[in-house]
Amino acid sequence: MALLIRNLAQIATPLGRTGIRGGAMRRIATRSGEVIVVDDQRIAYVGPERESPIRVTEDFDARGATAIPGFVDSHTHLPWDGTRESEFNRRLQGETYEEIAAHGGGIAATVRATRAATEMRLAENVLERANRMVRCGTTSAEAKSGYGLNVEDEIKQLRAIRRANERAPIRLVPTCLAAHEFPPEHHDASYVGEIGDRILPAVAREKLARFCDAFVERNVFTRAEGERVLRAGAKLGMIPRLHADEFSDSDGAALAAEVGAASADHLMAVSARGIAALSQSNTVANLLPATSFFLMSSRYAPARALIDAGAIVSLSTDCNPGSSMTESMPTVIQLATLQMRMTVEESLTAATLNGAHSLGLAEEIGSIEPGKRADIVLLDAPNYLHLVYHFGINLVRDVMRDGRWIVRDQRRVG
Ligand code: NIG
Ligand code: FE
Repeated sequence: MALLIRNLAQIATPLGRTGIRGGAMRRIATRSGEVIVVDDQRIAYVGPERESPIRVTEDFDARGATAIPGFVDSHTHLPWDGTRESEFNRRLQGETYEEIAAHGGGIAATVRATRAATEMRLAENVLERANRMVRCGTTSAEAKSGYGLNVEDEIKQLRAIRRANERAPIRLVPTCLAAHEFPPEHHDASYVGEIGDRILPAVAREKLARFCDAFVERNVFTRAEGERVLRAGAKLGMIPRLHADEFSDSDGAALAAEVGAASADHLMAVSARGIAALSQSNTVANLLPATSFFLMSSRYAPARALIDAGAIVSLSTDCNPGSSMTESMPTVIQLATLQMRMTVEESLTAATLNGAHSLGLAEEIGSIEPGKRADIVLLDAPNYLHLVYHFGINLVRDVMRDGRWIVRDQRRVG
């Protein structure tokens, strides 16, 4: 059953089967007047209709839409319970995120609510969020634990991701972030030992996480503690990622590069040494500008310096109830361009192929090319520039994952 997508205003995509670094991120291939043929969950052909070697059995009229690859959101904290709008309101009145956290709010508040929730409830929450993500064009997302902070509740969060993944419209990739914060019952270094001795082995036994992560930050985990956690995870087969240099420079970026992490995330306070380390490594610099925006900070990660130094840069939502309550990758792209001065082309590469690379999936997803999985977003726009130019509204019209329509235009008749 081959499907022909025709009447596209434009096809805009990065090209390749691996992450793209530095200035090459600006290379977006654009085609107009061409078609996409999808066969057996994959892209079979992209080019002029008359040259297609594939016999099509079904035909889809894109009515002048622009096709881009499905977004890959490679940093989210999806399985949580309870919202924090009153804390948000206090921030609007002048309290800082770190002050609120120091008084038992912040991550600790979500830990209390998440511990009290059942696995089923968390799975439903993940599913709801995944459904919102797909309507904004995301077809793959990483999802972290980190609001359990003990064996039972970390496992519960990761099982919830697995359960949701069976029914979710998008592909979910799990990460164990047991080192997100110290648990309230023992705020001391013994928790680092417990992560390595009990939590990560239990996660590995059930194969619940492909990645493991840690929050290296002033007043949270030190560089040495983060390294200990990531090395313990790596021994058990989990690839490291790292919350690095979010609010203060803890030499996190260099640590991420040193341990061969898939990504170093946040980087609002990254040092020149950190930028140099990332630019010479395969560790993706994963930038989360919605977090700066939502925390009302004027400090954004130095995207320009990272790209100019030759790093592989990706973009993600950081979707979580405290510092970035959004599922929207288009919003992240708007902030990346208008606040971090990335070009639209760099942002598109960052939000698709480079995110896929950090999840180890760049051979399968992240671009519109023959052989890749058919994860395609149709935008209600004449070209990809409208993704930023026409801001504040949702341009996503139809979304396909693995060759199946998972979002269909409501206005379509028949
Ligand atoms: O990525 N940096 C730490 N963790 C989250 C915030 C989590 C929360 O506030 O619940 C982040 O920004
Ligand atoms: Fe995060």
